[in-house]
Formats: sequence, structure tokens, C-alpha cells
Amino acid sequence: MKGIFIVLEGPDGSGKSTMAHKIGQHFSEKGREIEFTREPGGTDISEKIRELILDRNNTKMNYRTEALLYAAARAQLVSEKIIPWLESGKIVISERFVYSSLVYQGLGRGLGIDEVKKINDFGIAGLKPDMVLLFDINPEKALNRKLNIDGGDRIENENISFHRDVYEGYKKLAKFCPEIKTINAERTIEEIFDEIKDIINSI
Ligand code: TMP
Repeated sequence: MKGIFIVLEGPDGSGKSTMAHKIGQHFSEKGREIEFTREPGGTDISEKIRELILDRNNTKMNYRTEALLYAAARAQLVSEKIIPWLESGKIVISERFVYSSLVYQGLGRGLGIDEVKKINDFGIAGLKPDMVLLFDINPEKALNRKLNIDGGDRIENENISFHRDVYEGYKKLAKFCPEIKTINAERTIEEIFDEIKDIINSI
């Protein structure tokens, strides 16, 4: 049995975690083995890098340093966990992947999509998701939801124009990457999941 790699992308607070859980439940009811992960993080080393990147006290972090740290955390997650899981036939559901770096660092930070893609190509060594679900939601609305819950991390506390650039970046990316399916995330959980079910059943 072949593994399946599903990635959930979208602005902060767009409901990725809720849907990751529902997708996992859907596949486990079909008897498949599931693994959840999130970025940055997902391994001991990657979680340490996550703390470094998201610490609100790290006000001096250079944007290139930030991009390299995301790529490093990802490289470790891919080699230590995702590839072995896929090789053993599991369904891997990841909240965020390289697309986040392309839009947050490439566009939000202005480093350029091509530059950020290069360091990530090196990091992920050719791994491609089978499907990417992009949760399309007004970034102001989504971010306010997140900031009201926990005050937000270093990236979430960026100004709203950064988050608007990220949102527009995602929409641009969806035009170029055929694996990205855009989901209207401004609906009820049931409505959103009904659409997702149709998509994932077609894999
Ligand atoms: P999370 O809140 O979804 O766990 O993600 C942490 C933050 O990191 C979030 O604001 C998005 C940001 N991020 C990037 O800027 N680049 C990346 O490559 C990833 C994976 C996340």
C-alpha cells in the first residue's frame, strides 16, 4: 500500500487543525494508519528550531536566517519522519509545508519565491505532497481569531499588511501549482468538510 501525503495550508487561524483532525478520522474509519504533523516542528530537533523562530523576543532575527531555519526544521521532519511514514504506507497529514515558506518568507518578507524555493528544494530532496488543501479565509478575520486565543507568536504579531501579502501570495501560488485545491473556509465546519471529503476520496 502506498502512503499519501496531504498538506493543509492557509493563513494563521484559518481552521487547519480542526480539518486535519477530521481528515484523519475519515481515513482511520477506512482502516488506514494516520500520522499528523505540523510545521515548523514535528521532531525533537525541529521543535527546538520552532521555539527559536517563533520566540517573540528574537526581534533581531534576519529574514534569511528565518527562511533557513524554517527550511532546516523541514529537512529534519522530512527525513526523520515523513519519508519513513510514507514508505510504510501511512497517510501523513501535515499542517503547513514548503508553500508556507514560499508565501511567508518569499512574499511576506520579500526574499523572493525563487530564492526561498531553492533552499527548500535542497532541504526536502524532491518530496512532493499528493494534495494541498488551501484554506481561503479573510486574513484579518482569521488572525483576530488566533490572536484572541493566545496572543500570537512572532510571525502572527507581524502587521496586517504582512498577512495580506501572505494571503495574496497563497492565491497566486494556487494558480501555478496544480496540486493546490482552494477551499472556501468561511463556511461551517460541516460544509467545509463535505467539500474536502469529495476531494480526498478522489485521491
Ligand atoms: P503555526 O502557527 O501554523 O504553527 O505556524 C507558525 C507560524 O510560522 C505561522 O505564523 C506561519 C509561520 N510559518 C512561516 O512563516 N514559514 C513557514 O515555512 C512555516 C511552516 C510557517
